[in-house]
Amino acid sequence: MPLEFAQRIRRIPAYPLASGYDLGADVAMLASNESCFAPLPEVADAATRVLAATHRYPDPSYSALRRALAERYGLPAARIALGNGSCDILLAAGEALLEPEAEVVYAWPAFSVYPHLAAASGARAIEVPLDSDDRHDLEAMLTEVTVATRLVLICNPNNPTSTSVELERVASFLDEVPAHVCVILDEAYCEFSLALGDPFASLELLRRHPNLVLLRTFSKVYGLAGLRAGYALCGSDDFRVAVDQVRQPFYLNVAAQAAAVEALRYQDEVERRVGKTIAERISLQEELRRLGLWVAKSDANFVWLRLPEGVVEGDVVSGLADRGVLVRAGSKLGREGSLRVTVGTAKENEKFLAALAELLG
Ligand SMILES: Cc1ncc(COP(=O)(O)O)c(C=O)c1O
Repeated sequence: MPLEFAQRIRRIPAYPLASGYDLGADVAMLASNESCFAPLPEVADAATRVLAATHRYPDPSYSALRRALAERYGLPAARIALGNGSCDILLAAGEALLEPEAEVVYAWPAFSVYPHLAAASGARAIEVPLDSDDRHDLEAMLTEVTVATRLVLICNPNNPTSTSVELERVASFLDEVPAHVCVILDEAYCEFSLALGDPFASLELLRRHPNLVLLRTFSKVYGLAGLRAGYALCGSDDFRVAVDQVRQPFYLNVAAQAAAVEALRYQDEVERRVGKTIAERISLQEELRRLGLWVAKSDANFVWLRLPEGVVEGDVVSGLADRGVLVRAGSKLGREGSLRVTVGTAKENEKFLAALAELLG
């Protein structure tokens, strides 16, 4: 007899897992929007140092990290939620806010985890198509907010399309959303955005909207994807209390906590890396346009391109993999015929461009 699982298991879409993590150092890993920069030695040392005391559980209040984030962003520590990656906070938000009869509104294509929230809770997913520039259509999203809406997700800059919407437009959207609806502004890539200004710009919105949550991560700009640490800056304490209520007590391990605290101390280096990534992004986009491809206006550490009519996406993705370059197929992210490519080192980007040019003839 097979095991009998809960009905909802059948509804939950499988996350499009990246492959290639066992292929060795020569492969250009451009499929998961990770940082191409390794953590600073000081950050790696901080994570290593705490390993000697791992017979103890992690500090369940995460005091040091909460304090460091509170100081950086000028918010009370009680309004900072932490997670085993920001995905952990996202899933906890789904559990805390959604249930059958409730609705969650998000743009599509957007981050692949969003559909999971509705499927896992039995809530209705309202997916609003992006506009013709592959940006969030906030006006259309607003028309979908009803009495049943509990959660709105705005991915800014958006994964997978790399585009962003101006904060003024987000501000106008928030002015119209009823105060009992939680709005998560998923800013996993905000540090790479020129349009949004700096990572402090959206904090002004928090002061005006207690229903707003800014979701951030150490996985991208801080280069700590392998340790899993994310955080949320919340407009009120309620969100943090609720997401903590639905999770296990020790969700953030000691190494992740120590590395994240240390990583926050090197903002000059973070900015230098962002500068390098943006420079590479600009030249990558230019080269792709020179190949005659449509490329979205990227505001993140990845680019989103459309393959020419008649070119089979799967052939390009596997052709690139054969040439040692891993990218993400658009069909796995909600848009057949597109590719999402992380900005890598100059060498990796050149390798990708050469392989793509060869495949497109
Ligand atoms: C838009 C967006 N949000 C959240 C995440 C989750 O990041 P993590 O769980 O590593 O913090 C990702 C990861 O790729 C993402 O693209």
